Amino acid sequence: MEDKAIYTTKEAADYLGVSPSTVYRMKKRGLLSPTKTSGGQRRFSQKNLEECLRKNQSFETPVVREMPPFYEITARAEPYFQENSIRIYNADFLRTDCIKEKTIDLIVTSPPYNVGIKYSSHDDKMSYEDYLSFTRKWLGKCYGLIKDDGRFCLNIPLDKNKGGQQSICADITTIAKQVGWKYHSTIIWNEQNISRRTAWGSWLSASAPYVIAPVEVIVILYKDRWKKISGSRKSDIGKKEFMDWTNGVWTFMGESKKRIGHPTPFPVELPRRCMKLFSFVGDTVLDPFLGSGSTLIACILTDRKGIGVEIDRNYCELAKQRLINEAEIYQLKLIRFMK
Ligand SMILES: C[S@@+](CC[C@H](N)C(=O)[O-])C[C@H]1O[C@@H](n2cnc3c(N)ncnc32)[C@H](O)[C@@H]1O
Repeated sequence: MEDKAIYTTKEAADYLGVSPSTVYRMKKRGLLSPTKTSGGQRRFSQKNLEECLRKNQSFETPVVREMPPFYEITARAEPYFQENSIRIYNADFLRTDCIKEKTIDLIVTSPPYNVGIKYSSHDDKMSYEDYLSFTRKWLGKCYGLIKDDGRFCLNIPLDKNKGGQQSICADITTIAKQVGWKYHSTIIWNEQNISRRTAWGSWLSASAPYVIAPVEVIVILYKDRWKKISGSRKSDIGKKEFMDWTNGVWTFMGESKKRIGHPTPFPVELPRRCMKLFSFVGDTVLDPFLGSGSTLIACILTDRKGIGVEIDRNYCELAKQRLINEAEIYQLKLIRFMK
């Protein structure tokens, strides 16, 4: 590219070898400081771009840690999307044979809650019996895929109050144990911005009041032995994080459906904490109900390999776009590297 003093956003992107949207994000993070024309257009000085390049000599080479090959997946299914350490499969988790038995270190997932959510492909209004039978099938399948020292962080509601009161957490935990999972503990996730209240029952009367806790839970299960010996044995959790997160009440906001474009996303913070607390760097994490891809974004942020399965093609596309735009498979690492 010809040398000139002032560059448009597109020209700056070409100069740096990144996309215009990355230039925008780099500006937001203070890595670039453009001026504005009288018409409001951004302009970048060559000095500023060169400074930026100088900070990272290997700018044009994506700064990505070499990941080992994906020995966890079979050749029987084509991924919908694959990139370095990430695979997305557009499939019914109960039917797919894309993952090999006993290869997964950690499962982090939030299954459908059967509360009448309008998913594009999944029926979220089964009878409670059918829902528990569906739950038994996928919990059993997860059990086959996990390593002997693998763990499972299962985000589910505490109670269900639509269509009859049920202790959904107790019922699912019981089924998990019946299919072989061992119980370790339960984390209460205090979602500050939700209200599960639908009715008072009997207002100011003991005749039939309703009680509902504005929390969800993350049930921690494991396959055979709690002590993890497989994997890199390299932990990336800090002292404060360890002390805070081993206290089993986690308080952080839920994710906005509108912002993400999915009816029930969890915040990336949830799988990120689970990964740092319960897995080693480089471990393989599975989300069998991937939805909008939050678990895989957390994989990229924490240097874990990630496999996601999602039945709905539109959600797979959403997850893919989030990975490209939010996690920026190569460029996010690049920006972190430059800080
Ligand atoms: C609670 S949402 C998961 C949301 C996800 N944690 C996120 O952050 O976006 C459950 C997802 O499971 C998907 N799903 C339902 N049945 C499935 C199946 N049999 N196999 C794979 N995905 C399924 C739904 O389409 C939905 O996107």
